[in-house]
Amino acid sequence: MEVEHLVKRFGPFTAVNDISFTVEPGELFGFLGPNGAGKTTTISILCTLLTLTGGRATVAGHDVSAEPDAVRASIGLVFQELTLDDLLTGEENLRFHATLYGIPRSELAERMGPLLEMVGLTERAHDRVQVYSGGMKRRLEIARGLLHSPRVLFLDEPTIGLDPQTRTHIWEYVDTLRGEEDTTMFLTTHYMDEAERCERIAIIDHGQIVAIDTPSALKASVGADTVTVATADDALARKQIAQGLGAEGELTGEGVRLRVPNGEAFVPRLFDHLAVGVTNVNVRRPTLDDVFMKYTGRDLRDADSGMGERMRMNPMVRSFRAR
Ligand SMILES: Nc1ncnc2c1ncn2[C@@H]1O[C@H](COP(=O)(O)OP(=O)(O)OP(=O)(O)O)[C@@H](O)[C@H]1O
Ligand SMILES: [Mg+2]
Repeated sequence: MEVEHLVKRFGPFTAVNDISFTVEPGELFGFLGPNGAGKTTTISILCTLLTLTGGRATVAGHDVSAEPDAVRASIGLVFQELTLDDLLTGEENLRFHATLYGIPRSELAERMGPLLEMVGLTERAHDRVQVYSGGMKRRLEIARGLLHSPRVLFLDEPTIGLDPQTRTHIWEYVDTLRGEEDTTMFLTTHYMDEAERCERIAIIDHGQIVAIDTPSALKASVGADTVTVATADDALARKQIAQGLGAEGELTGEGVRLRVPNGEAFVPRLFDHLAVGVTNVNVRRPTLDDVFMKYTGRDLRDADSGMGERMRMNPMVRSFRAR
């Protein structure tokens, strides 16, 4: 997948502002960013649900503007907003999708059982989707996205609002699928553990890519460990650290928090300079949360605005369904 100088404007507002990146075949690529950064807009363009304003993009070797039908035939979508048919049962939704994608009956029979099992819906497959819970709908949506073995799968916050156990199941299946079919995956998520699974991550903020690299390189770019020291008198300890070590600490409820290049080497020096009793010391390597904070000034988890807001139907997606 190749994206070159992609631009999307809504009237005077620029939602995607000249972004470029390449996703390798079979890669699990993460696309992270705060709310409103332009993630869903970018995915929508790559899926041909929206037209681009400038630049170009190819998906599975096909140009999104010139060959939208070829792009659609190569991709699977698991979208932020639900696009299931409420009046059909879970299984009927899958069958309908299989017909749209021309999946042979024999293949459908082979794939449907394991997929329903994976998302824990085997028992409920013959109930109408309108009586499903939000989490059940989301799980069915994921099963449907995987049904036709797409070459490229777009996952826009696929597991939002799901319980940890279901998320684990889904990721196990995704790993299997990647092993067996070499599916390229383009993922947006606000979950740190999911971002960690990605081979590379792009961080988008205000419509622009502000960082792109492997998770470990991104974490190394933060260049600082976090040391938290709890003492008998944290305010005094903070002063002593500033005077003795020249490190500006921050008082948190848990103690004095310091950002230092090498946390483990810093701790002995800390003990040398502190004249108050230490009750606890914690050294933490940078996480993707720290990376996200560095590049966007926001917390990765804060950017998760919850499930309720996501459940509203998107007119754009509805019109795609109607085609
Ligand atoms: N159809 C539209 N018309 C006008 N503005 C739009 C439209 N769709 C999206 N936008 C704006 O474009 C910006 C990017 O929106 P987008 O949905 O791509 O963000 P996002 O990164 O997916 O955020 P979130 O994490 O909340 O899902 C937002 O400011 C949004 O309000
Ligand atoms: Mg979005």
